[in-house]
Order: sequence, then C-alpha cells, then structure tokens
Amino acid sequence: MDEAWTKQVDASLDGVAGKELQRLVDLPTRRAFGAFFTGSTLAERLLAGQNFGKDAFIYDPTVGAADLLLAAARRLPLGKSLRETLVQWGQCLAGTDLQQEFIDAARLRLALLARLRHGDGQKIPSGLASYFPHLRRADGLEQKQLIARTTHLLMNPPYGLTPAPEGCTWAGGRVSEAALFIVHALELAKPGTHLLAILPDVLRSGSFQHHWRERVSDLAEVNLVERYGIFDDIADVDVFLLNACRRADKDKSIHRRWPSAEKTGASTIADHFDVHVGRVVPHRDKETGPLCRYIHPRNIPVWEEVSSVSEKRRHPLAYQPPFVVLRRTSRPGHPYRAAATVILGNGPVAVENHLIVCLPRDKSPDTCRDLMAELHTQRVNDFLDQRICCRHLTVGAVKEIPISI
Ligand SMILES: C[S@@+](CC[C@H](N)C(=O)[O-])C[C@H]1O[C@@H](n2cnc3c(N)ncnc32)[C@H](O)[C@@H]1O
Repeated sequence: MDEAWTKQVDASLDGVAGKELQRLVDLPTRRAFGAFFTGSTLAERLLAGQNFGKDAFIYDPTVGAADLLLAAARRLPLGKSLRETLVQWGQCLAGTDLQQEFIDAARLRLALLARLRHGDGQKIPSGLASYFPHLRRADGLEQKQLIARTTHLLMNPPYGLTPAPEGCTWAGGRVSEAALFIVHALELAKPGTHLLAILPDVLRSGSFQHHWRERVSDLAEVNLVERYGIFDDIADVDVFLLNACRRADKDKSIHRRWPSAEKTGASTIADHFDVHVGRVVPHRDKETGPLCRYIHPRNIPVWEEVSSVSEKRRHPLAYQPPFVVLRRTSRPGHPYRAAATVILGNGPVAVENHLIVCLPRDKSPDTCRDLMAELHTQRVNDFLDQRICCRHLTVGAVKEIPISI
C-alpha cells in the first residue's frame, strides 16, 4: 500500500467525513438533523482504556458516519483475512441512523479501517451491507431488540430540543433530544451494559436538568462525568463525557450516583487543571531525555511548596511547573486523603507514577496554592469517601473533586 493511499485513508477515517458534511450541507440543516460527527481525538478520549471481550456487542443508536464505532473497531481483533475481519466486526458492531448516506459511509469507513489495519492491500469486497447486517437506516429510538442484546452503548446523540414525551417523569415542556436518547437507551438496556456518551454540558451543569441526572443515577452506576470543553469549532457547544453502567432494576444504591459537585453546579478540578498520573516507572524506564529534577512520594513534603529538589534523573516525559502533585495512595493515619504538594521552580520535573499531577490551565502558582488549600479540608475527604471506597486515588475521582477556585 503506498504512502499517499494510506494518508488519504487516514484522513477519511478522521475529519474528512465531518468536513465533507460541512461542505455539502448548510449549518441550519445540520442543526435541524443534529448531524455533527465526532473527531477521532474526542472519540479516542471517550474510549480510552476500553477493552472489548469476545462477547461484546457494540451499538451506536445515532451512528452518523460511524466515528465512535471506528474508535471501537480500532480495539477489536483482526481475522486471518480482510473478509474474515469484516464478518467478525459485522457480528459485533451495530449502528442506526435516519440518513441512508451516513449508513453507507459508516460501512465503507469500517471496511477501510479493516483494510488499513491488515496493511497488505487486500481488495474490499462488494456488498458491504451483507457484512454489516446490524448497520442500517432506522430510528434509534425504536430499537428495543438491538439495545437488549447490547453490551456497550456508544452515543453522541442529536442535541436539539423536542417536546417531552407523554408520561415523562423527569421532564416537561421541551427537552434535549440527547437527554431523551440516554434515558431511553438505559431503560431498555440489560443490567451490566456499559454506556459511553458525549453529551451537551448543560445536562451536566444545568439546574433544570437535575431530574434527568437523578433518573440516569436510578438507572445506572455513574462511573465518570468529565467536562471536555467545546465539541468543535463549528458545533460551538460545550460537551462532557459520561461513563455509566446499567444497574439491576431494584438496585438504587447511593454510591456511584451523579457526583454531588454536579448537582450544585460547582466547578471541579477538571474544569481548571489537566490531571495525569506521573510518567516515571523507576525500575522500568530507561534514563533517556533531558536531565531534570525528579520527585516521588518519599522526597517531597506534604502540604508545602517545593522549588528545589536535589534528586535528578533523565526522562523524556517531564512536566513544567507550577503544578500540584497528590499521592495516589494515602498513608494510614493521615487525616487528609488527597495529600498535596505544590511544585514550583524553573525547568521540567520528572514525576514518579505514585503521584498524580494537576497542571493548572492558567499556569499560575496561586491557582496551585488555592487547590492545595482546598484539598486540605474535610469537605474533600467526605467527597472522596463517597466517591471511592479504597484508599487509592484515581485520576477520574481527582478530576471530579469539587473546588471553588
Ligand atoms: C451528533 S450526530 C453524531 C453521529 C455519531 N454518533 C458521531 O459521534 O459522529 C447525531 C446523528 O444522529 C442522527 N439521528 C438523529 N435522530 C435520529 C434518530 N431518531 N435515530 C437515528 N439517528 C438519528 C443524525 O442523522 C446524526 O447522524
């Protein structure tokens, strides 16, 4: 396969479908149909860390040109030949959309991805519809059987407003179509079904959407609510990522409901900081890259500002201060669960993987100091006690910590 062909296919698997849609269809029409395709960066973020077992059945009820299914297919195994891969993928990938052109594009793009991954120039067979029997033109709100067999729901539904259906218990008047699609899918899904969705931020933060959040929490364990920012330059709408798991009907457990910060509309660490696990795995990583200061839980004090660090090592992935680090495992007997240190000074700092790094988007030392002060409170302890039962902090839980910066 030559390089030019590969480049063209790469583009058609990323932004080209969205750009062609922009070129061919005007904005008011796209708004009316809710037709905005997810770029590969956002789709990858939604599916980060996701694995699919051999019994997975992955369904996008409003599939568009399959950008979310493509991210899923990148994680699926290949067959011995292109045909075998298409048969296998066709058995576990499902999508519906009201527009036939989108469905045609979806099948073709999945086949292109399969061909690209095989990398040996096999011809794409004709009659792709027969390889993808579950990818078809249909209303995503009328797919009881498909949803009932689904193990993973991937969703970026339309965001327009529509009248609330008769008998709707969580909304009246006009309601976001996205809210409707999510509740509808969760109501029909079997217990244990995973939901990964990109949704308008107003559902996360709006006070009128409180009843919707309660309904979602009744139906599913809410594993992650993560603010993302603007969907893209054209759609110009703030979105968040939702990761939830359908619970058994009678289970109304108080854990894993919508995080309390969202109920009050307060901001969270993720609104102001980029959060990562430190990159250095000491006995595994080679000493390459620039020589820089090196921190780990044993050479920095808790609840202090640190500028000079004597320990140094080489590492290609270091962070530029100012930032805050949290210990991933809190010590028994330590009263505060998110034990923090502010890191200042010039030059990059290599961070061991037992620390979580919070990089302030405004790059201000004062924002770091404010965060450290907030973490040193019973309020944050209470939040973490409710959010995670083990003493091991996760990036997801840290991102959701409510703060008043
Ligand atoms: C925001 S786009 C997202 C497409 C795709 N999921 C993605 O992430 O790129 C929403 C899609 O939903 C489709 N759609 C709108 N109403 C629908 C319905 N009732 N059933 C199925 N698809 C629908 C639109 O045609 C559009 O392609």
